[in-house]
Amino acid sequence: MSDELTPETPETPEGSAEQPIKQRKNGLYPGVSDELAENMQSGWADTELRDLEPIEQAEHTARRRAALSARFPGERLVIPAGNLKTRSNDTEYPFRSSVEYTYLTGDQTEDSVLVLEPTTDGHQATVYRLPRSNRENGEFWLKGDGELWVGRRNSLAEAERLLGIPTADVRELAQKLTDATGPVRVVRGYDDGIQSALADKVTAETDEDLRVFLSEARAVKDDFEIGELQKAVDSTVRGFEDVVRVLDKAEATSERYIEGTFFLRARVEGNDVGYGSICAAGPHATTLHWVRNDGQVRSGELLLLDAGVETHSLYTADVTRTLPINGRFTELQRKIYDAVYEAQEAGIAAVKPGGKYRDFHDAAQQVLATRLVEWGLVEGPVERVLELGLQRRWTLHGTGHMLGMDVHDCAAARTEAYVDGTLEPGMCLTVEPGLYFQADDLTVPEEYRGIGVRIEDDILVTEDGNRNLSDGLPRRADEVEAWMARLKG
Ligand code: GLY
Ligand code: MN
Ligand code: MN
Repeated sequence: MSDELTPETPETPEGSAEQPIKQRKNGLYPGVSDELAENMQSGWADTELRDLEPIEQAEHTARRRAALSARFPGERLVIPAGNLKTRSNDTEYPFRSSVEYTYLTGDQTEDSVLVLEPTTDGHQATVYRLPRSNRENGEFWLKGDGELWVGRRNSLAEAERLLGIPTADVRELAQKLTDATGPVRVVRGYDDGIQSALADKVTAETDEDLRVFLSEARAVKDDFEIGELQKAVDSTVRGFEDVVRVLDKAEATSERYIEGTFFLRARVEGNDVGYGSICAAGPHATTLHWVRNDGQVRSGELLLLDAGVETHSLYTADVTRTLPINGRFTELQRKIYDAVYEAQEAGIAAVKPGGKYRDFHDAAQQVLATRLVEWGLVEGPVERVLELGLQRRWTLHGTGHMLGMDVHDCAAARTEAYVDGTLEPGMCLTVEPGLYFQADDLTVPEEYRGIGVRIEDDILVTEDGNRNLSDGLPRRADEVEAWMARLKG
């Protein structure tokens, strides 16, 4: 999309939005006559939306902000949504707002910033954001972020009604932050402009405390979040069914057909995929993050599909199934698959409130090490293997992680609050053991080489144990075969 009116506004300084276009010198906007500029100022309908209801998560975001406020009394807290990132020249990557901002506001609008201003009894929250484009001064059609180019934005008043948070013009925020005094923290890494306005008032160490708090706060999901995670998983189940139905087309083309098929479901029912889909056929399954997805799909081999739909509110599923491409496992494939299944069963059984987070990993590794010793791939006893971590040549990765708005959620949490922590109702984690025999691994019999199996489910910790959110997909080998036969017709 290119046009001679493509906005180029190096001469449009911040704040010049107030200057009407017809008072500008000729040539400031090449190719725009005074008559056209004047014409574009009027003749537009009032589209203000006056009867908006608050978004569903507004009451939850209020509670989350209250918890944040209680943790940092008397301090100004600045949580940016982030800015667009250039892909090339004048095209940008699709925008995804920071999880911290979205968690606290429910909003996903670029360039916005949540500020919690300290008061005598807590904090006053304000969402700073771009207002509707001004039509009087021409910015709506002559500036790159003008609504004529990028689409209608909610007005500040509309956003205030939707989010249940007072709003203000973000173009004034950097100066306000520069002028302000008192302790302040910012979530780093999202908004360079805001960060530089605060550069001489913040430290990396104190800012990190804010990020850590917001990461740990997300560990226990509220009802809204659990509902969203279930929606994400349900769409993901449908996406996996879609893939099974088109495996013959993937065989005729490539792994790309699988990626595209799953993406269609993600885009139609959700916002996006929550991470790059891993569509790994044959030996590609042994590459943990195989996202090139450009390989052959061959009958007789396995397809490891690790994919998740992200909902409109940005919660993602993270599910893996390893499927026989022609619908039937070979004997060796089944033997390896069954070991991973058994490890996953042991892992899921260890997910319960009050249990140690590490327990599910240890339980799964115990099973896998036992099978590897039994098959003669590593010398026992099992205790020795586990102590030295020798099974890891083939198990490769941890058995799971927290799940939420980030696929690897709560990543900034302290070790004692996460991997050394205790499970609580409302936590949601993946349990995803795997066995991977690289194509060039000379330490295993030739027939094992190039086989990779992972089974991954999304497990919610409940009051009395756990709930498998992704049990809409079969896991046992015979059930997988029956399910595939049904879908392939
Ligand atoms: N999809 C990445 C993971 O399973 O952790
Ligand atoms: Mn995972
Ligand atoms: Mn995964």
